[in-house]
Amino acid sequence: MTTIESIRALEILDSRGHPTIAVRVRLTGGIIGTAAVPSGASTGAFEAIERRDGNKKRYGGKGVLDVVASVNTEINECLKGFSIFDQTGIDNRLIALDGSDNKSRLGANAILGTSLACARAAAQTLGIELYRYLGGAGPVIMPCPMFNVLNGGAHADNSIDFQEFMIRPHGAPSFAEALRWGVETYQALRTLLKKKGRIISVGDEGGFAPNLASDDEALDLLVDAITQAGYKPGAEISIGLDCAASELYDEKEKRYIEKKRRERKEKYESRTTDEQIAYLQHLVSRYPIDSIEDGLSEKDWDGWHTLTKTLGTSIQIVGDDLFVTNPKFLERGIAEKSANAILIKLNQIGTLTETIQTIQRARRVGWRTVVSHRSGETEDTFIADLSVGLSCGQIKTGAPCRSERTAKYNRLLFIEDIENGNSTFLDTNREQLAVSKR
Ligand code: PGA
Ligand code: ZN
Repeated sequence: MTTIESIRALEILDSRGHPTIAVRVRLTGGIIGTAAVPSGASTGAFEAIERRDGNKKRYGGKGVLDVVASVNTEINECLKGFSIFDQTGIDNRLIALDGSDNKSRLGANAILGTSLACARAAAQTLGIELYRYLGGAGPVIMPCPMFNVLNGGAHADNSIDFQEFMIRPHGAPSFAEALRWGVETYQALRTLLKKKGRIISVGDEGGFAPNLASDDEALDLLVDAITQAGYKPGAEISIGLDCAASELYDEKEKRYIEKKRRERKEKYESRTTDEQIAYLQHLVSRYPIDSIEDGLSEKDWDGWHTLTKTLGTSIQIVGDDLFVTNPKFLERGIAEKSANAILIKLNQIGTLTETIQTIQRARRVGWRTVVSHRSGETEDTFIADLSVGLSCGQIKTGAPCRSERTAKYNRLLFIEDIENGNSTFLDTNREQLAVSKR
């Protein structure tokens, strides 16, 4: 039996230059599995807790040396001698060792880093690809990528309140082609922005971050870029939004406020839930938008039901902050028909086992699953293998720009190549939506 010999962590940097942790699991027999943990900026209120030192003298309080110490001592001792092939057992031990209900004692970063490094070490011991270890011997489905080509919200220093404007090349014949279509559209967008005299510097996820007058201007630019690149808007490449509306919601007033525009003393909108839904409906009627993530706040469950009833028969309604990859909130969402798709972020819940549980539950009720990076990323590509192994069908990992983003897309190119023509690219728009009748 191959067992865990030792676990060591290290403080490394994420793509924003903030500290995060990397974990190395060494097995009897000498194989080493590693993993690094990402970090969000627009985090959901109920995410598992990312632990930081809080010592203002180091990295402005963002250091993770205490987290590293927890891995090197407590976690190392707890898992030493444990079978590397019992992922559920490993994760359950980590959850029990932590003892809190949100992983705050050891930190979701300590727990997730260990959990993922163990899975990598197990795959390497068997001499198989990680996506095969996660998914088994079945046919491989390559995910449709969603490229975040215009960044706003908490990810960019501009006046756009919606966080992400994405392009979805669902009509491509393969992942490699979808990537090419996405890149060509991204480059066409760059040319258009330059022609208009806009800045072409990029935001945290590699998308352009110019100042634009309105959401309409952003969406018009995307449609133009798709067309300029030679593709059919809607039929071949559609548009997805992540409004990250929890950031816009004023709980007291129960209104959605364009806060960045307000701060910049620009003209801004303040909408009730019904007005926000009507606004999204208006955008969907005008533009080839077929996916909306976090169109409403995580505090607005009733609104989500109405939104899904209104738009969920024709487009994908994705819950990110609302569900935080947590089986408990997903269960509520299924009961209340709050969405028809869920965003999957490993570090929102903190273990591989619970993430898989959430994905499987969503798939069983016909919901779509979108595997996601975080805005603060590392060069780790685990999520690429996760999206393939669990047949999730979709992945969003930023624009095709910045190496921490392209690392995931490049890994998917490798996977498609390894499968040598035997994989299928998922045209998400041919997949049935789980439709709410009530
Ligand atoms: P975050 O953003 O990683 O900053 O939370 C990603 C998202 O909201 O989907
Ligand atoms: Zn989101």
